[in-house]
Amino acid sequence: MTRVVQVDPFAPQLAVIREAAAVLRSGGLVAFPTETVYGLGANALDAAAVEKIFQAKGRPANNPLIVHFSDPAAAECVVTDWPSEAALLAARFWPGPLTLVLPKADIVPGIVTAGSATVGVRVPANLIALELLAACGFPLAAPSANATNRISPTSADHVRRSLAEGVDLILDGGPTTGGLESTVLDLASGHPRILRLGLVTQEQIEAVIGPVETPRLNLDPSRHALPSPGVTARHYSPRARLEIAVNGANRVRELLAAGARVGWLRLTDVEAGAATSAAPCPCVDLPGDPVHYARGLYSALHRLDEEPIEYIVVDQPPQGSPWAAIHDRLRRASAR
Ligand code: TXA
Ligand code: MG
Repeated sequence: MTRVVQVDPFAPQLAVIREAAAVLRSGGLVAFPTETVYGLGANALDAAAVEKIFQAKGRPANNPLIVHFSDPAAAECVVTDWPSEAALLAARFWPGPLTLVLPKADIVPGIVTAGSATVGVRVPANLIALELLAACGFPLAAPSANATNRISPTSADHVRRSLAEGVDLILDGGPTTGGLESTVLDLASGHPRILRLGLVTQEQIEAVIGPVETPRLNLDPSRHALPSPGVTARHYSPRARLEIAVNGANRVRELLAAGARVGWLRLTDVEAGAATSAAPCPCVDLPGDPVHYARGLYSALHRLDEEPIEYIVVDQPPQGSPWAAIHDRLRRASAR
């Protein structure tokens, strides 16, 4: 059984941070919270340790890992170019959920970047992650701490249930506040390009560096050379078949009438926690603002996925820039 240790997210216990850093220093794997989702960390400069991440997740070797730092200046040391856009974005969004893809320096082992000449770097906005990174003194390669193609973890319990083996220690810092992964922005190809939508919106990035290209959604890996291997149509999947419905209530009724076992991810207009009408099936309510919706989305999907259901009906969320990453994840979760 993987050891799970509680950590105070506002005042991480030094003894625990030191123990986790020691595990990482000796080449082990530690799962830790970030502001987005839990990461599965290894010493990014130790190829053998990084190899264990790919094994534990069942991750294909062609999917590169993000490298995490506590200090923006240290991130500059693993890239060979630090354009003015990187400096501006780092100053505005770090620590925070933005990953910058830049030409990699030789110090980064090829396994981290899946052989690519670029590396994704970010400084996470989570005190446990930052103190762990500072105690290590080396950067951490960390993908989301879930088995490949499953829903990302927003709690230590999600990690424990998704990754049964190969993780030496899980730091339980409570539920993550952001709930969706970081935005991945390519700054290595001349034209800034969003490779993965995330918690930092396109509008927020464009306010700092001007126009950026947006991702082509639902790329089919058999027909396209992928700019970012993680950007495949099917990803982040629950076990049950997920359907996005303009009128979820109707779709739920229809499926129940046909004898199907259904769960419902319901969009509520009321404040989180307020009373809502009874649902005819297992149901999780998410509020109608994008920040709280993002925070609760993966947890809701994890919960519904534990039910003996064949379908998850999701009320279609509103449109607009702050909802773009949410639509992206729901579309992927619904892809078959
Ligand atoms: O919020 C996050 O980004 C979380 C936390 C733990 O930091 N990490 C995360 O990592 O979501 P992962 O491995 O699940 O997703 C990383 C994404 C993948 O789509 C990967 O293909 C892309 O970033 N990526 C990483 N390095 C890249 C590179 N050098 N070039 C292009 N894409 C890259
Ligand atoms: Mg992931």
